[in-house]
Amino acid sequence: MDKFIIEGPTPLKGTIPISGSKNAALPLMAAAILGNSPTTITNVPKLRDIYTFNNVIRVTGTHVIFNEDDGILTIDPANIAHLEAPYELVRKMRASFYMLGALLGKFGRAKVSLPGGCAWGPRPVDLHLEGLRAMGADIKLEEGYVIGNAPDIMDGGTFTLEPSSVGATINLVLAAVLRAKEFILKNAAKEPDVVLLCKRLVEMGADIEGVGTDRLTIRAVDHLDGVEIRNAADRIETGTFMIASAMHPQSEVTLTGVDTDDLGHFPDTFKRTGTEITMDADRIHIKAPSELNSTNISTDVYPGFPTDLQAQWATMMTQAPGRSKVTDTIYHDRFSYVPEVTRLGADMDVKENKDYIEGKTPLKGASVMSTDLRASVSLVLAGMVAEGETDVLRIYHLDRGYEDLEQKLTKVGAQIRRTDQKE
Ligand code: EPU
Repeated sequence: MDKFIIEGPTPLKGTIPISGSKNAALPLMAAAILGNSPTTITNVPKLRDIYTFNNVIRVTGTHVIFNEDDGILTIDPANIAHLEAPYELVRKMRASFYMLGALLGKFGRAKVSLPGGCAWGPRPVDLHLEGLRAMGADIKLEEGYVIGNAPDIMDGGTFTLEPSSVGATINLVLAAVLRAKEFILKNAAKEPDVVLLCKRLVEMGADIEGVGTDRLTIRAVDHLDGVEIRNAADRIETGTFMIASAMHPQSEVTLTGVDTDDLGHFPDTFKRTGTEITMDADRIHIKAPSELNSTNISTDVYPGFPTDLQAQWATMMTQAPGRSKVTDTIYHDRFSYVPEVTRLGADMDVKENKDYIEGKTPLKGASVMSTDLRASVSLVLAGMVAEGETDVLRIYHLDRGYEDLEQKLTKVGAQIRRTDQKE
């Protein structure tokens, strides 16, 4: 097991290239299974979750080649014979559950393990299952597995997601494009990852109306072809580095390879902290203010504030004088970072789904533990402005979703070293 040793405080100066998006790539990989010929996806990041999903897909008999140096993934679904996603792999990554929609849609049968809980709460999949039933599929639960059957074309019908769900929208779209006469999905997620998936499915031959809106109408086509897809830039990595660049008053950073259209309202919210940003089509320049403004945020569905940046924002607010409030309306328990950032000297108090932060507190290096992907990166952000040495343990969480994190940050002036946790 690895850990990071971070020496701070260090300002960040220079250029950071943004990687391809993990959360956009995963549904595209599931979509590739629906094609009748190979699909090639470019700009795919080298991340643990991508390797896990490659293995999930391989279990079915699909041929997957990942050219890691060039970020090119080729998925050839010609020989699928095994319509199952086993617990050993699904438990490692919830997005493996996309195999349910993909396999059921293409073959009319699927056996996919239920994903189980996660570090900050239960994260249900009831909407995925209810939506498939509403579409006309027979869905049973047996020994921890979902068994789906839809041997013929399903009627489809109408289903409303309440609340809106990224994962359920993806699963239902994957199931419907080849197997539902007409399926109307209301309150569908409009996150860029969903929009990209729908656009590329249309390119493969799918009939989806309303792409980019919260009402999707899908009519089955008889086949889909493989295509070449460029994966989006990671909008959460972008937001994370924007926050990192605002936390030290001497930092000045340019992010390149950004999809600025995918950031929703985030840049406007970010400017309220007093940070100067200039944006072109694919780059963002960030200049930290001498003093951050304390700024409240509340997470929301896209284009609102992403829950995946909530922990990083709260950590930044430890460096802003005054009181700020961070509310998570998507995941009410997503505050596992709080006790760890507090170990570094932050003044945070969680009540219900709100984190109240009192700033500005000097942070001081200590040993802290990663609990999930976004909580872990917050500890790295805190460590880079903390006085002295911060050890971030269990960084395997970070390797799930941040490509070359320490190399990218070291290049712009951070002092981060990866080492064996036993050291
Ligand atoms: N929900 C239900 N029932 C369901 C599904 C979801 O009640 O069947 C609820 C959830 O409990 C939550 C809300 O709906 O309150 C939204 O959850 P959603 O389904 O949208 O989340 P997800 O698809 O499981 C994806 C990302 C998460 C990100 C959320 C929200 C991937 C692989 N995961 O999860 O990303 O936080 O959308 O934007 O795309 C991360 O990258 O760190 C991460 C956790």
